[in-house]
Amino acid sequence: MSQKKGRIVAVNGNMITVEFDTSVIQNEVAYAVIGDSKLKAEVIRVRGNRADLQVFEDTRGLTVGDITEFSGELLSIELAPGLLTKVFDGLQNPLPELAEECGFFLQRGKYLPALDVEKKWDFTPVAKPGDEVFAGSILGSVPEGIFQHKIMTPFDISGQWKVKSVAEKGTYTIEEIIAVIVSQKGEEQEVKMLRKWPVKIALNAYEERLRPLDPMATQCRIIDSFFPVSRGGTYCIPGPFGAGKTVLQQVTSRFADVDIVIIAACGERAGEVVETLREFPELDDPRTGKSLMDRTIIICNTSSMPVAAREASVYTAVTIAEYYRLMGLNVLMLPDSTSRWAQALREMSGRLEEIPGEEAFPAYLESIIASFYERAGVVRLHDGSTGAVTIGGTVSPAGGNFEEPVTQATLKVVGAFLGLSRERSDARRFPAIDPSESWSKYPNAVNEEQVTFAKSLLKKGNEVDQMMKVVGEEGTAIDDFIIYLKTEFLDAAYLQQDAFDVVDSSCSLERQKYVLNKIYNILKKEFDFQDKNIARSYFLELTQLFKNWNPCEWQSEEFKTAEQKVDEKLKS
Ligand SMILES: Nc1ncnc2c1ncn2[C@@H]1O[C@H](COP(=O)(O)OP(=O)(O)O)[C@@H](O)[C@H]1O
Ligand SMILES: [Mg+2]
Repeated sequence: MSQKKGRIVAVNGNMITVEFDTSVIQNEVAYAVIGDSKLKAEVIRVRGNRADLQVFEDTRGLTVGDITEFSGELLSIELAPGLLTKVFDGLQNPLPELAEECGFFLQRGKYLPALDVEKKWDFTPVAKPGDEVFAGSILGSVPEGIFQHKIMTPFDISGQWKVKSVAEKGTYTIEEIIAVIVSQKGEEQEVKMLRKWPVKIALNAYEERLRPLDPMATQCRIIDSFFPVSRGGTYCIPGPFGAGKTVLQQVTSRFADVDIVIIAACGERAGEVVETLREFPELDDPRTGKSLMDRTIIICNTSSMPVAAREASVYTAVTIAEYYRLMGLNVLMLPDSTSRWAQALREMSGRLEEIPGEEAFPAYLESIIASFYERAGVVRLHDGSTGAVTIGGTVSPAGGNFEEPVTQATLKVVGAFLGLSRERSDARRFPAIDPSESWSKYPNAVNEEQVTFAKSLLKKGNEVDQMMKVVGEEGTAIDDFIIYLKTEFLDAAYLQQDAFDVVDSSCSLERQKYVLNKIYNILKKEFDFQDKNIARSYFLELTQLFKNWNPCEWQSEEFKTAEQKVDEKLKS
């Protein structure tokens, strides 16, 4: 660590102002010394010989005149085998280990190494001496869970280098040297499995970015069929408290067609996060039958933890996602909630006394949100394979009002908008994604024509519903009433999906296509009911049949029997 020191001249909550006489860099890590402990902080503004620092911990007791040590390093995280299954805080402290060491009241100024430095990993070299390499080229691999964790060249080398030597097949710790590379000028660099990367800089040691066109099946019908998300794309889930944002993220993390899931529990109430932490290890992975945690990483920063680390936590999460993307994997990153992250930005900006933008959020809120979501994407790697980071963040606007700055800034940059409505969640129509508010720019994997038809019908049905609220059922024409019944049927039989039903919680694309086609045939049909009551009971029965059908095991006997009943019903 460098010996640069400074002296505190002001303390304002988590913000300290430090006077120094050397040089200090923006986003550099520093430590405020208090007694025997050192509180981690980040430089967030430098002006003349003064720097403003955001302390990641409670600043109680810090006073003017106290010493601050500057590290000379940007706020960084450690990348190496061993990240999977871990639960970290926003600064990559391993939480279970920290709890073991400190008890459940975390001590301030206590930091633990993020990864196990003693564990030995089975390394198999891939590169040979003489091979030409670039930043992020693969040197070898170690098995980590169900994946091969690729060991790459450092991400910050520029141009072409050559491999000088690579370790033999064997077991090594993440701190042992596993290769030496040499630049064209003859500089040598030793390579370990462990490396650091500054979280606020995108990890782009790949060949090129590609357009996100392949669907990322979530197995949630309303998403995949109506508002699809592409692999490497971005989406957001805005919704009021209790509308089902967290539940939706959980089912997605379980069933989405991705390799690795990174959850950033950001600023939500401690109780809710604890629930996530408790539930997750118990969930089984539909792909492997083992624990879902085996291919998950949780970054957790509750509302009771210092707000400064919350700002860092989403960057920590996305940097880990980018790291695994460089191994050719598909990563899904789920921040919950980005509104709490934005609140941290607002707090920081307020302390810096910057000129506030709308609702006191910093004026640069939009550009911060945009540059965060830009870190998603599909990329082509040096070896020709591709990897992806998909980001699906929740937004929790107060009162569910989407006209607020965070929702507005987010919807400008994401590719799909899955707006949850209070009305739907109150009616327990889950997932409460509102078909009239939501949209997606990504290509659809199911029959586009059928979806377009269903969407326009939903729109008409919604109009009839509004009208019916005024004129009542009696005042509604039978044709309009049938449109309304059709949309109610579509909603109940297809759009709604029970996250807690063993079978209904997931629905493969193949099955979605099959069922949607059936529904389409019903929606297309002209019915000439003479009586509203007869029409209603017909659709009620049909809905019931579909509800029983949908949760049946796909292609089971049960499914076929239910299908026969549906067909008979349609003939009658
Ligand atoms: N897809 C779903 N299926 C069934 N119930 C759901 C679903 N989504 C949400 N719920 C219900 O709504 C409650 C609140 O959801 P939650 O995700 O915690 O809301 P939020 O994160 O938006 O505050 C859940 O505890 C559950 O009872
Ligand atoms: Mg929640």
